[in-house]
Amino acid sequence: MLDQLTALQTEALAALEAAHDEAAVEAARVAFLGKKGSLTLLSAGMKDVPGDQKKAVGAKLNEVRTAITSAIDAKTLALQSAKDAASVAGIDITLPGRPGLGTGTLHPLTKIRDLAVQTLRRMGFALADGPEVETEWHCFDALNTPADHPARNEKDTFYLADGRLLRTHTSSVQIRTMETVKALPIRIMAPGAAYRRDEIDATHLSVFNQLEGLYVDRHVSLADLKGTLEFFFREIFGPKTVVRFRPHFFPFTEPSFEIDIKLEAKGKDARWIEIAGCGMVDPAVFAEVGKKRGDSLLDPDHVTGFAFGLGLDRLAMILHGITDIRHLIENDVRFLAQF
Ligand code: PHE
Repeated sequence: MLDQLTALQTEALAALEAAHDEAAVEAARVAFLGKKGSLTLLSAGMKDVPGDQKKAVGAKLNEVRTAITSAIDAKTLALQSAKDAASVAGIDITLPGRPGLGTGTLHPLTKIRDLAVQTLRRMGFALADGPEVETEWHCFDALNTPADHPARNEKDTFYLADGRLLRTHTSSVQIRTMETVKALPIRIMAPGAAYRRDEIDATHLSVFNQLEGLYVDRHVSLADLKGTLEFFFREIFGPKTVVRFRPHFFPFTEPSFEIDIKLEAKGKDARWIEIAGCGMVDPAVFAEVGKKRGDSLLDPDHVTGFAFGLGLDRLAMILHGITDIRHLIENDVRFLAQF
């Protein structure tokens, strides 16, 4: 049996040596190691080997199997390398690449959002988020805007069959945050989409981008609001930017303001452009959210706060002199490549 095994090994290695493709290697594997292969058949003879020779024959058997298996592996690898080499033959890897698509740039809205977020983060504002499909309570009622409030008409929006709506402003994130926060102060910023039933033109889209801010603590004052936002706009538009706070009305802030910045283009009269809404959080908002929370963290007798909401699209338009808001959503590369 030992001689038979030696002969088998010689035969198998010769067959593998002669194999010139994968099919031949596979055929050799089946012929020697397969279920009905010669080595398999030979090893069935183990049971007839006398006891004192079993050890030697067993060892030889393993040796032959290992030799054949390694020869198969080596041949497979060699064939594969040859194939790989053939497939890249003639390719000059030192050839310089062809210029294809140019490098992309960030969208002007992404840039202004990043800049706004970075600026507010330096003042301790943390990112917050809320759903775009919102409940009426979060978007209106909790913001001191009950169903019969005239301000609700003005902002009337897209309703879903279940009564939820596409949020008309990111102010709903103020409510979402105050509802769940564990401790004061609250100092959040929430960039996100807002929806309005607006006629689409050069300055209006039915979906646009806002950035909400909210700061609530024990002694937040109007001076904090003014300082924060003046700093913010000077960071965005330059240190000489003139900011004006104009009294306004929002149901959820009291007092309320609209913020204008002064634009001075060469050769043109300076003009004021409205850029944000803001104000001191109306105590009625604290009271309503407090009722829902069932605790006194937001007790209107003890906490104050300010909130603001600004249009990121408009910031981008002013910053880059973009005259039509529709450019921001058309994805025309000739426009986008300028930023
Ligand atoms: N939510 C208001 C709007 O969309 C803006 C605003 C936010 C005003 C926060 C005051 C405070 O017009």
